[in-house]
Amino acid sequence: MNDTAVSTCVVTGASSGLGVELALEVAATLDFTTIVLSARRRERMEALAARLREQRPELDVRIVVADLSAPDGVDTLFAGLDDLLPTVGLWINNAGFGYRGPFLEQTAQELDRMLDVDVRALMHCTRRVLPAMKARGSGRVLNVSSVAAFSPIPWFAVYAASKAFVLSFSEALAHELAGTGVTVTAFCPGPMPTEFFDIAGKTRWHGPGFLWITPRKAAREALDATLAGQAVHIPQRLFVLQTFLSRFFPRGLISAVSGRIFRD
Ligand SMILES: NC(=O)c1ccc[n+]([C@@H]2O[C@H](COP(=O)([O-])OP(=O)(O)OC[C@H]3O[C@@H](n4cnc5c(N)ncnc54)[C@H](OP(=O)(O)O)[C@@H]3O)[C@@H](O)[C@H]2O)c1
Repeated sequence: MNDTAVSTCVVTGASSGLGVELALEVAATLDFTTIVLSARRRERMEALAARLREQRPELDVRIVVADLSAPDGVDTLFAGLDDLLPTVGLWINNAGFGYRGPFLEQTAQELDRMLDVDVRALMHCTRRVLPAMKARGSGRVLNVSSVAAFSPIPWFAVYAASKAFVLSFSEALAHELAGTGVTVTAFCPGPMPTEFFDIAGKTRWHGPGFLWITPRKAAREALDATLAGQAVHIPQRLFVLQTFLSRFFPRGLISAVSGRIFRD
């Protein structure tokens, strides 16, 4: 990020997990002068802002409280940016969550909330931030997807489908924007020990430890892939192999295997 016109990085979902580590890593390693943290829980972001200011006292850290599942959530976030929008060099669409369970036992409100945050808000934030980047001829958008994007997942059906949207949308945009100086990256991690699993199904992930990636390591890899302008990045080698091999198996078999893992 050596372009002097770009001085701002925006991180959504900056109150916990991967979002916190992304903000810390951006502040530690990139030369943005302003970082905007957004999520619903202000106290969490204030604690993070204090850490960031300790790390880099000259950094301008701003907090925008916005509920991205609300109809006006994206408007609230962009209103909170004031005049910073033209200076955004890196926009990180990280906010997201998934409810696990049988589709028919999930309420319409739960399903809407998931799609509102994981898909609708991500798409509208991207649509609003890209014009200034394109006009300037530089900018990066990092969209946090998941390895769940690569296969249907029974008992996590809507979440997996929402992440498949993020992957497909990001890849398509990366192509549309080729040669403009603006890049879009879909980051597709496997399981990370964050609050995600508490929200997903009130159960902890109990897969073997070697499948985990720490949010800190994931954040570093996500930023490296974004700065390199990669369209898609899967951080764990095992999942790179799994997503590659899954192309050669029938989708019905993939559903059966992932269903076994996610049922309980
Ligand atoms: N953990 C995993 O195993 C895993 C694997 C693959 C992909 N991912 C993806 O990684 C991203 C980060 O998740 P995480 O693992 O760091 O989980 P997390 O610790 O639960 O963090 C999720 C973040 O999203 C924000 N968020 C949730 N609902 C929101 C809403 N309505 N409006 C605004 N912000 C909202 C949360 O902030 P507030 O609650 O304060 O609003 C929080 O900062 C998500 O997109 C997730 O789907 C996670």
